[in-house]
Amino acid sequence: MKEKFYITTPIYYPSGKWHLGTCYTTVVCDALARFKRMQGYDVFYLTGTDEHGQKIEKVAQSHGMPTKKFVDKQVESLKKIWKLLNISYDKFIRTTDEYHQKAVQKIFQKLYDKGDIYKSEYEGWYCTPCEAFWTEKQLKENKCPDCGREVELTKESSYFFRLSKYQDRLIELIENNPEFLQPKSRQNEMLNNFLRAGLQDLAVSRTSFKWGVPVPFDKDHVIYVWIDALSNYITALGYMGEDDSLFKKFWPADIHMMGKEIIRFHSIIWPAILMALDVELPKKVYGHGWLLFGSDKISKSKGNIIDPIILSERYKVDAVRYYLLREIPFGQDGAFSNYAFLSRINADLCNSLGNLLSRTTAMVNQYFDGILPKSKKKGEHDSELIEIADNVFEKVKDNVDKLLIPEALTEIWNLINRSNKYIDETQPWILGKDEAQKDRLSTILYNLVECLRISATLLKPFLPDTAQRILSDLSLQDVNEFSENTKFGYLKGGEKITKSQPLFPRININKELEEMDKLASMLEKKNELGKGTNEIKKPEIEFDDFSKLDLKVGTVKACERIPKSAKLLKLTVEIGDEERTIVSGIAKSFEPDDLVGKQVVVVTNLKPVKLCGVESQGMVLCTEDENGIVLISPQRDVPSGSVVN
Ligand code: MSP
Repeated sequence: MKEKFYITTPIYYPSGKWHLGTCYTTVVCDALARFKRMQGYDVFYLTGTDEHGQKIEKVAQSHGMPTKKFVDKQVESLKKIWKLLNISYDKFIRTTDEYHQKAVQKIFQKLYDKGDIYKSEYEGWYCTPCEAFWTEKQLKENKCPDCGREVELTKESSYFFRLSKYQDRLIELIENNPEFLQPKSRQNEMLNNFLRAGLQDLAVSRTSFKWGVPVPFDKDHVIYVWIDALSNYITALGYMGEDDSLFKKFWPADIHMMGKEIIRFHSIIWPAILMALDVELPKKVYGHGWLLFGSDKISKSKGNIIDPIILSERYKVDAVRYYLLREIPFGQDGAFSNYAFLSRINADLCNSLGNLLSRTTAMVNQYFDGILPKSKKKGEHDSELIEIADNVFEKVKDNVDKLLIPEALTEIWNLINRSNKYIDETQPWILGKDEAQKDRLSTILYNLVECLRISATLLKPFLPDTAQRILSDLSLQDVNEFSENTKFGYLKGGEKITKSQPLFPRININKELEEMDKLASMLEKKNELGKGTNEIKKPEIEFDDFSKLDLKVGTVKACERIPKSAKLLKLTVEIGDEERTIVSGIAKSFEPDDLVGKQVVVVTNLKPVKLCGVESQGMVLCTEDENGIVLISPQRDVPSGSVVN
């Protein structure tokens, strides 16, 4: 029977704010899941979404959407990203799935019946406008970290999980099982900063919002939030559900993979919940580092493109996967830059791998009509190359077992680079001119095809599309497992070798960096504009509110710049039989003369304000896109003073 392998990512917040860093956990887990499948394991790869809580409720409100509808839409977008990135998950769990909610209620009930959950009072700092509780530590300069307003020390009734009861067992777990929490540096962090400092019981319900799983025996409370979120790893397998066969087969998890900021919840709260439920603990919890943009995990340093969809569409999905897997030392942080991304594509994918493929397949076609020759005459450099090729699988496997992903890829590139060097050393294009050297040439090309084949076979879990393209050129359609195909000498000769098309076009880095800069500022602008329009919807208003506006059509009679202001124009607008002075921030898109004679829509009953010393008696309506500001005008000229309604 196949050995099982259960791997999970955290479940993602359906916030819609996904960037390259957010894709890191799923891409890494995908490579591991694919590698294990090719090794013959029965793999279950789980990902999903963490949809409850007040934050999501508020984001949905700001989009003017019912919460469920909003999260449904976000989940669709997230699934599209995973599809694009070739993420081969076996199950996608949503915490709003009914089976999950029912199971979470049963888990809560079981913990309550056992005495591990009890009712008490939760004291925290409450922000009334945000309806949110904060701990003292979360406050920013004693104010609400979300809106910056005053907070009040408030008590709320809450259910508590007896986390403190498990403190000693948790310390023992981490001290005695060095494999449980990795990388090693996280063990001391957890032991010293949290476990030895003393654990407090954990508030696990809230009454201040409703968007969550109701506590089964107390409908005023919703379960907040870790019992709901963390339980996904077992409810997805049917724990406390109608059919728990997957749970029996796959639990305990072989790896829970996640970013370092949530390691505390997974290495302290999650094992304690499992201990309380009498469920076996996961084998490994791994906290990887962050992909940094500028100085932190989410801020964008100017000019960098970090949208996984744009990057994948522009440079291919495997360029994105390769960058994430190769560039960030696993377990540590790594900084993203357009330059590092483009350099990796050029150096490793286009030059090393692309050249080996194109030179090898071109020469087999040129000298042997596209049919792989048998090896006929051994020579200098062969044994060194063959030894590397024969050992590379073991080295890659060792690194994958230790979760050293960049190192695993480096091993594959050692073979690719050594093969390119072998071409330079053996100079097959010179041998090709001499019929007497044909036997030696056949061995050289056989050796090269074999090295290319082994490289592509091992690359399949990491870069599935690229590896498949190479293997297809070598007449290998279905390489789905590692077998004797990881050893040198697998192909027998006689196979059709297709002259390949370039894998990754060579990039002119300086030129492309300029293009990326332009693209980044366009995107930034679009985001800025989006903020004012589609993204944040204003609350619904009554017709009476709208009818308070006095909108009229006016004709611009004169227009001039306002000295010392780059933004403002002073317009003289005729509205019926009166003339008004209106100051408008549209100077970057219009020359004063452009506007004279134009009709505009004016808010005529806006309280006058002074701008740069000039009193503005109204406002003209306009919109903006990436090409600049556009005035809102009637479709054809109408008498000035016409009412807009
Ligand atoms: N919902 C919680 C997890 C609950 S698990 C029971 C959560 N979600 S998240 O959407 O914020 O994060 C999902 C994953 O993306 C996490 O592993 C997180 O560490 C990872 N990353 C988000 N930004 C990242 C980077 N900039 N770099 C690397 N990984 C990052 O946390």
